[in-house]
Amino acid sequence: MHRGAVYPLGMRKFLWGVATSAFQMEGAPRCDWTHWKIRDEADRKARLHGVGHIERTEEDLALLSDLGVNAYRFSVEWSRVVPRRGEWNRRELDRYVRIAASLRDSGIEPVVTLHHFTNPAWLVGRSAWENPATAAEFLRFAERAVRALRDSVRVFITFNEPNVFIVAGYFAKRMPPGGKRAREGLAAFANVLRAHGTLYDMIHALGRERPAVGLAHNMVAFHPASDKSALDRWAAGVAHTFYNMGLIETFRTGTFSVRIPFLLDEETPVGVRDKVDFLGVNYYFRMFLRMSPLSLKGPDPFWEDRGGRGLTETGWEVYPKGFEDVLRAAALAGVPIVVTENGTAETDDLRKIAYMKEHLRVVRRMIREGIDLRGYFWWSLMDNYEWLEGLRPRFGLFHVDFDTLARRPTDASSYFSRWVRRRIAADEAARRHNTP
Ligand code: FCB
Repeated sequence: MHRGAVYPLGMRKFLWGVATSAFQMEGAPRCDWTHWKIRDEADRKARLHGVGHIERTEEDLALLSDLGVNAYRFSVEWSRVVPRRGEWNRRELDRYVRIAASLRDSGIEPVVTLHHFTNPAWLVGRSAWENPATAAEFLRFAERAVRALRDSVRVFITFNEPNVFIVAGYFAKRMPPGGKRAREGLAAFANVLRAHGTLYDMIHALGRERPAVGLAHNMVAFHPASDKSALDRWAAGVAHTFYNMGLIETFRTGTFSVRIPFLLDEETPVGVRDKVDFLGVNYYFRMFLRMSPLSLKGPDPFWEDRGGRGLTETGWEVYPKGFEDVLRAAALAGVPIVVTENGTAETDDLRKIAYMKEHLRVVRRMIREGIDLRGYFWWSLMDNYEWLEGLRPRFGLFHVDFDTLARRPTDASSYFSRWVRRRIAADEAARRHNTP
C-alpha cells in the first residue's frame, strides 16, 4: 500500500480508539517483568493480575461500546501463549482470538500488538534480544498468533516502542534485561528490526483481508536545556536523530545506522526497507537535555514546566506543540501515520481533559495541513499497571479503584466519547456523500 497505493481494509476509515497492553491489564505469571525489581506486596500482586482484566474481559470490552470508539488496540501476551519453552497454551491464544472476533462483531476494529515490552521468562533466563535466537522464538509465536487471529484482525503492530525497551533495557538499565552493555543494545535493536521485517512479510503472506502492518514508535520532543549552550543543542540534535529518526531512516533505507560524531559510526543492513504500511507514533512529552563538558555518561535528561501547562503525575511536561513537531517529523517516513498512543496521568479530570483537548486539536490541525494521519488512540482505556511506577499513575478514561478493581467512568471519558462520536459521524457522512 506504499505511497498512495491501495488502502488496507482495516484503515479505510479514520481509527478513533483507545490502547492497552496485555501485561498492564492482565499481569503475567511467567514473563521477564513478573519479578523484575518488585517494590512491595501490592506491586507483586499487580504483576500477576494487572487490573483484573482476565476476569473482567467482557465487562471491559463493553466499555468500548459505551465510549463509541471504532477501534481498540490491545496486545497478545507471548508468555501466556508460550508459558514454557516449546509448550503452547491454545486456551490463552483462543481468548485473544475471541476478543478480536467480538470486537469485529461490534464494529470495532481490533488493532493487535504482537510484542509490547514483555518476553517469556524461560527465554530471558538464557538470553534476550541481543541473541538472534530470541527473534526466532518470537517469530514462531507470532506466526501461530497471526494464523489464529487473521480471520478478525487486519491491522497489526509488530513491536511497541523498540527504542524505549532497548534504551531502557540496555542503556539506562531501567527495564529488563538490564545490566547489559550498549553494544548488546545495538545488536538487540538490529535483531528487533530484522524480526519486524520478517514478520511484515509473514503477515502479508498469511493475512486474509489485505492487512496493514505497522510498528509503534515512541517519539519525544527533545530540546536543549539551554538554547545558548552549543553542547546542549548538540545533545538534543543527536537524541532526535538517533531516538526519533533512526527507525524512520531505517524504513527508508533498509539500513540501521547509528552515527554519533566522535563516538560511533555503524551501519547494519536489516532488510526492512519500505516494510511498514503505517507508522505508529506514541507521543507524551518534551524532554530537555543538558550536556556538561565533563559528562562522561552522556547528556542529562529532565522534565521541567517551561510551557506553563504543568507537569503530570508521572512528572512529564505537558507540551502539545511537541506533538505537532513529532508528527511532522514522522511524516518524513512517507507512509500513513497512526497515533498509536497519546495520553496523560492525571487524577484531576479537568487537567486530563485539558491535555486531551489540546492534543486532539493538534490532530485536527495536522490533518488539515495535509499530514496523512489515519488514526488516534488514547492511552489508556482505564488506569492500569504502569511499567516503572506500578499502580499509581492514572492514564485511564475509566478510573480503577486499585483495591476493589471496580471501574468507573471519568469526565474525561465523556469528553473523549463525545469527540469520537462526532468525528466518526462526520467521517461517515462525508463517505456517504462521496460514494455515489
Ligand atoms: C508507553 C508505553 C505504554 C504506557 C505508556 C504510558 O511508553 O508504550 O505501555 O505505559 O507509555
